[in-house]
Amino acid sequence: MIFEPLSDSLEKALQILHQGELIGLPTETVYGVAADATNELAVAKIFELKNRPTFNPLIIHGPTRTCFEEHVLWNEKADVLAKTFWPGPLTLVLPRLVSSPLSLLASAGLDSLAIRVPNHPLALTLLQKFGKLLAAPSANPSGKTSPTQASHVEEDFPNLFILDGGDTTVGLESTIVDLTSPSPRLLRPGGISQEEVESVVGPLKFPHQNSIKAPGMMKSHYAPTLPLHLNVQEPSEGEAFLAFGPTPYKGSSVLNLSEEGNLTEAAANLFKMIRLLDRPPFQKISVAPIPLNGLGLALNDRLQRAAATREL
Ligand code: TXA
Ligand code: MG
Repeated sequence: MIFEPLSDSLEKALQILHQGELIGLPTETVYGVAADATNELAVAKIFELKNRPTFNPLIIHGPTRTCFEEHVLWNEKADVLAKTFWPGPLTLVLPRLVSSPLSLLASAGLDSLAIRVPNHPLALTLLQKFGKLLAAPSANPSGKTSPTQASHVEEDFPNLFILDGGDTTVGLESTIVDLTSPSPRLLRPGGISQEEVESVVGPLKFPHQNSIKAPGMMKSHYAPTLPLHLNVQEPSEGEAFLAFGPTPYKGSSVLNLSEEGNLTEAAANLFKMIRLLDRPPFQKISVAPIPLNGLGLALNDRLQRAAATREL
């Protein structure tokens, strides 16, 4: 059920979290399904609800940078990135302190922890009032398209208590940067561009081949029901077309990520528009080419995984 963000529903959400149950939580990137990150059983319920493999760790959300100090080992790069981009769509992976009381399942038994401060007034208010950290993956069944509206979460999880924070403004998940070794690595492109991160910490490396460090990087992920075909210039009759920039194609089978070719607008529209086209009478969704600069890297990353052969 979806609830307006009135003080009554905020109280109810806090009560649910204190009882070790889950809520649907808006953030600026995508909606999350959140649990008390110190409660092992509550965290286990997230994996169960999403049918998520337990080797895939969760991001821990907090209201301020300082609230992570007892959980991770900070370094200079983390400090400057947090100061520059938080609250905002950047997740930092840092060594987990052995003394951290957070759920071990949340970090899938790894000796690192992924943390972020979301930039959404409702999420921040809730985190402040709750007084404990929240573990929150995107609120979709594992491997499926992420939700950018409360109604998307309700479609997938009708029994969940969902706080309505409106459409998410960024529309893509956070950028994940691994800072557990001296050279930072970009584990997942996302809402903050690679260029922006590099302007602060210098060149980023890419993930080790075959590493399962961020299983969001599994080849097939974010998948709609219909097959997705990428870099299509001319859609065929009868197929759905996701355009980008000026296009001669119009009509009910066409949605445009951004008529002006604006990548920020396209990011905000991507998951919503895929969901809108992912239904009969279409049998396939074709997607126009999208440039690779700025947020285009993350857009192409999500599209490639959504289009990949499903072998999960
Ligand atoms: O924007 C976001 O990050 C959203 C909102 C809800 O905050 N959350 C999100 O969570 O996208 P999720 O679970 O869908 O993706 C989290 C990603 C996964 O790919 C996971 O493998 C990676 O973060 N991750 C979590 N902990 C990690 C760790 N210790 N080391 C490396 N990757 C980690
Ligand atoms: Mg996800």
